[in-house]
Formats: sequence, structure tokens, C-alpha cells
Amino acid sequence: MKILIKGKKQLSGSVKISGAKNAALPELAAVILSSGDLEFSDVPQVEDIKVMFRALENLGAAGEFTDSRIKIKLPEIRSNLVPREIVETSRASILILGPLLARSGYAEVSNPGGCPIGDRRINFHLDGLSKMGAKIETGAEHIIARADTPLQGIDYRFPGKTVTGTENLLMAAALARGTTILRNCALEPEIGDLIDLLQKMGADISGKNSDTLIIKGKPILDGARHKIIPDRIEMGTYVIAGALPGNEITVENAVPAYIRSLLDILKKIGVHLIEDEDKITVKANGPLFPTDLETEPYPGFPTDLQAQLTTLLTQVEGISRVKERIFNNRFKHALELNKLGANIEIKEDTAIIKGKTGFKGRVITATDLRASAALVLGGLIASGETLVENAYQLLRGYEDMPRKLRRLGADIKFLGVENE
Ligand code: EPZ
Repeated sequence: MKILIKGKKQLSGSVKISGAKNAALPELAAVILSSGDLEFSDVPQVEDIKVMFRALENLGAAGEFTDSRIKIKLPEIRSNLVPREIVETSRASILILGPLLARSGYAEVSNPGGCPIGDRRINFHLDGLSKMGAKIETGAEHIIARADTPLQGIDYRFPGKTVTGTENLLMAAALARGTTILRNCALEPEIGDLIDLLQKMGADISGKNSDTLIIKGKPILDGARHKIIPDRIEMGTYVIAGALPGNEITVENAVPAYIRSLLDILKKIGVHLIEDEDKITVKANGPLFPTDLETEPYPGFPTDLQAQLTTLLTQVEGISRVKERIFNNRFKHALELNKLGANIEIKEDTAIIKGKTGFKGRVITATDLRASAALVLGGLIASGETLVENAYQLLRGYEDMPRKLRRLGADIKFLGVENE
């Protein structure tokens, strides 16, 4: 699958942000904790979510996914397997591990897939679940976890920040016997949204928005209705698009607080921003200045916006340095951006970007989800035609991106996708 972009069109107008993929994923896994009816709105229609939906159906869930709404119910677990052929492109299996083990005492899940952005370790997930009483075997393809008696509440300190690790143990603890205290939890807004959902389902959780969560387990949770929060990475991507030369974009259904670290950097480098409660207007009307930054766990600058911001920094006069501190192999976009004309050198964990360089359209290859967005932004500013290969990556996490960009004035289309 490919994306064709004819660049150098000015973008203007408004774009509406969809629900958050990385909130919807754990929240769908939380369906396993209940035998009641669950209904989600603002679900992004992206491949990673379709994968999670299919994995739940495979466990025995009955549901429907229409437009941006999912209705689903899992009265009884019919299969304890999460097979590779369903989940190999996403992190769905690891998020299912904790809830499935907690509900049924047995889970056999394929090793998690997802973006090839470095070592994506899961030892804290497995360590926590073992301490709750599970016996875990790991193999080249599968993780098998069993608990002959219900999981037990624990007092666990995560040795490092982990987003899905926090979500996994939080969900397991919701059905464990007794009280669980999780310390050094990650603080991403998607975790807060998961806590909101679990509380609606009847879970007893305190400590939301702090790094210590206290969970009193229940035998089973109830059904609930839940609207998923807006996707802060999609939000940040369109804000960055608005900061590219000549553009002016209003990002709607935005939550400025979720991307405060990005907005601060953009203001510092000279981007003009107007923030309202739920929208952000962005334009670059004057010279931009280079900067140095590091990726960090929330509320620091997110690794998931590193590639897209790098594209913007190639258009800034001077030398910028971007240090990637979360994943150890997340600079694959740099090589592809260099093919378009960027001057980016990678030294260990830092990208050194020498701007400003003109871009010329070429054939380039998307290596992972956020890299694919960075390459699309590169294609928008390049002269001539850019063809992004392996564009399936974009479908995994950005709802309707070509269509949303076309409405802003871009000339961009998927090749080989019907009705995109
Ligand atoms: C989540 O991945 C997101 N995925 C990622 O989004 C995001 O890049 C990442 O958090 C960081 O913000 C989902 O929410 C589904 P981590 P996750 O566990 O949970 C190390 C996107 O583009 N670590 O917070 O897998 C790990 O190796 C994606 O949407 C351990 O050492 O990330 C990494 O260096 C890509 N042991 C760091 O922590 C563990 O047990 C952060 O990983 C767990 C993690």
C-alpha cells in the first residue's frame, strides 16, 4: 500500500481530532473484566483497534463496530488464546494478558508486535503478574500465564515508567483479591481515561493522575458507556502540520493540556499559537529558531511526536538536536527524510538536524506508525511527487489522515485503498 503526495500546497482550515487509539486499546481490553454491556463512542477507525476487536471476538465477545461506536459484551470466555495471526501487528496481546488471566486464570497470548522502534520490553508486566500469583512461561512465540487461585493484591513499584505495563497491572488488580498498590505508575492521559472507564464499571481505584494507584479488587465488573478522549498524538501531528511554512490550521476537539510540552517547544521556536479550551490555531508567520529537546514520559515531550517534530525542524535555520530517551531505535524516519533532502545525522541517541534544507519528492518507505506521519509531513513540503511505501503503517493509527489533509488543501491519496 502506498501514499502519493503532490507537495507544496498551502494548508488552511480546520481539522477535527478523533478518539485516542492508545486509550481505546486498553479500554477494549478492559471489556474482559466484565460480563455486562459496554458501549464506546469516539472510537478511532484504525487498524490497531480493528485488531483488538477481532482478538476480543476470538475470546468469545459479541459486538459491533460501526462508525466510531463499539457495542460489545463478553458474558463468558470461550477461548483463552490470542493467536499470532490476529495480533502480530499490534500491542493488543500484551494488554489482553492481565485482564484475561485475572478473569479466567489462564491466558496464552502471542508475543506482542507493534512498531519496530527498539527493544520493547515487557518484564515489568510479567514481574507484576507473577507477584500476583501467576506462573508464567515465555517462549519464542507465546506467553503462557496461569493462576490456579485468584490473583492476589500486591504492593508493587514499577522499576521504570511503562504505559501499557501500568494499564495491564491496573486491569489485573481490578479483579484481584484484596488491595493492590502500584507505585511509580506512568501518568499518560490514556491511563487516566482507563481509570475513568474502570470506575464506571464499578472498580474501586484511587490515585488517578498520581504515580501511586490503589485498587481494591472486585470479583467481576459491570457494563458501562464511555466516550474516549481525543488522540493527543494525532492532535500534535496536525499542530506540527500547521507550523510548516505557509500553513495555518485550526485543530478542533483538542485538549491543549495534553500536548503542553509540544506547545511550549513550538512557542519557543517562534510558532504562533492561539489556544482555546478545545481548539488550537497554529501558523508560522515569521522566522523559526532551532532548539534542543529530549523525549520523556508524560508530561514530558512524547516519543510519539519525535519524528513529526523532526520534520518541522528540518525547515528551521540552524542546528537542532533531538534526543530519544524512551526507545533505542526510533530514528528510522531520518534516513527517509534525508532522501527527500533533509540533513539529519544520528549520533547514538540523538538526531542532529541541520536546517533549513529544501525537499524534493522521491520514493520513501514508512518503517513505523509515527515515522509514516513524519514522512507524510515531509511529502507535503517537498516539491514534486513523493511516494510513501508501506503506508499500511499510517492506517494503524491515524483515522482518515489523507482525507483530513485533503480538506485542508493537500494533494494526497492512498493508492490501492477503496473509499479512503
Ligand atoms: C506505549 O507503548 C504506547 N503504546 C506507544 O505508542 C508509546 O510510544 C509508548 O507507550 C511510550 O509513550 C500504547 O499505548 C499501545 P512503555 P508501551 O512500556 O507501553 C521500557 C504509538 O506510536 N520497558 O511505556 O509498549 C521499554 O523497553 C506507540 O502509538 C521496560 O524496560 O511503552 C521502553 O524503553 C508506539 N520493561 C520504555 O520502557 C517493561 O516491562 C517505555 O515503554 C516495559 C517497558
